[in-house]
Amino acid sequence: MDKKKPLKRPRMDNLPIGARGPIANGPLHTRPLVALLDGRDCSIEMPILKDVATVAFCDAQSTQEIHEKVLNEAVGALMWHTITLAKEDLEKFKALRIIVRIGSGVDNVDIKAAGELGIAVCNVPGYGVEEVADATLCLILSLYRRTYWLANLVKEGKKFQGPEQVREAAQGCARIRGDTLGIVGLGRIGTAVALRAKVFGFNVTFYDPYLPDGIERSYGLSRVYTLQDLLFQSDCVTLHCTLNEHNHHLINEYTIKQMRPGAFLVNTARGGLVDENALASALKDGRIRAAALDVHENEPFNALSGPLKDAPNLMCTPHAAWYSDASSTELREMAASEIRRAIVGRIPESLRNCVNKGYFGSSGFGETINGATCYNYNPMSVAHSTTIEPLSTPPAIPISHSTPHSTLQDTSNRLTPKPESSEVH
Ligand SMILES: NC(=O)c1ccc[n+]([C@@H]2O[C@H](COP(=O)([O-])OP(=O)(O)OC[C@H]3O[C@@H](n4cnc5c(N)ncnc54)[C@H](O)[C@@H]3O)[C@@H](O)[C@H]2O)c1
Repeated sequence: MDKKKPLKRPRMDNLPIGARGPIANGPLHTRPLVALLDGRDCSIEMPILKDVATVAFCDAQSTQEIHEKVLNEAVGALMWHTITLAKEDLEKFKALRIIVRIGSGVDNVDIKAAGELGIAVCNVPGYGVEEVADATLCLILSLYRRTYWLANLVKEGKKFQGPEQVREAAQGCARIRGDTLGIVGLGRIGTAVALRAKVFGFNVTFYDPYLPDGIERSYGLSRVYTLQDLLFQSDCVTLHCTLNEHNHHLINEYTIKQMRPGAFLVNTARGGLVDENALASALKDGRIRAAALDVHENEPFNALSGPLKDAPNLMCTPHAAWYSDASSTELREMAASEIRRAIVGRIPESLRNCVNKGYFGSSGFGETINGATCYNYNPMSVAHSTTIEPLSTPPAIPISHSTPHSTLQDTSNRLTPKPESSEVH
């Protein structure tokens, strides 16, 4: 980690606390730079942003791999989940106004530090609710029906000649009807899981201390008010809470002892919620009958190393619960549109899913990142103050690619001279 003292940023005295000053744009200025930090493919984002921004991709896994040009000039950042932005990372960006997480979890960004630096952090919460809920049910059903293990036996060539062999191979298959599914976190995904699980015959109960009374009645669910009660009552526990500073290793050696002996565990939320050492021991001694994890403490997950490598009755998927062809496109469109709203509108008023709005005060000062105007700003006027590109999307022209990381793609290649290859790396 770079321990150098961050450069002091210029302060504009008429800005609300935490806000950064506007940057210049319009016909006489270069267009704002937006960077995809941890990916390469901007093909969906470009058509949405090309008339208001220059789009760069960095393909970085840490801020050390991000080129200085991006650190100095990017006003917007799009990021997947492979890069983490701690306070010291955020301080390296000199012009950043908005970060959009291409996904719903924002646990890989220090939201508080971002707020204090005047950087709005947004997520895309709704895009894959159905996919994650369906994937969760898929895992739950697989644990109950042992589909994954039975399919593997067939693939390995095992022949089942009669009920005895089926019984032997399918031992542990359980009936769903009447079992209790315990949901930790009844947000968007938890609710979608609850509604699906009821149809399969589960008694559904949930624990979510942040929800008001009465929600349980709206959905026809039962509710408990402590995690201990949930673990005690559930035959299968499924995690759907956000990961935050209060619930790291929510499932640990101590709480596993509060689970019903032989219960199932499913995690499609965040890897940090489960202590993998404790889970591995519980799977080995059968205290947890089987588990299914889509998310892991360290990603990308390596099944051949780490505490879970020898754990029996474990089924892992590669943080893919969110994915369908449709949700992936929708997600990227929604993330790029949020950046666009930030450029042509005001921060935070024009943003749809700003998770640190609280840091931006309500002074009536409309902070724009394009510098066109500041107060009572009409978003429609900006489009005219920027250079308008032809309607068809030009192919992505890498300005330079001297290393696979930190390459700039400029959507305005018609206007921008191609820099030397040393400019971006
Ligand atoms: N695997 C994937 O591909 C994937 C995709 C999208 C989201 N997710 C993850 O799924 C989880 C749920 O997402 P969502 O969109 O439903 O979030 P959400 O914000 O709508 O819901 C989260 C719920 O968890 C509750 N909660 C927070 N801390 C809790 C705690 N300690 N105990 C109990 N409840 C708690 C909140 O009150 C909230 O109701 C998140 O962790 C998200 O990162 C995973």
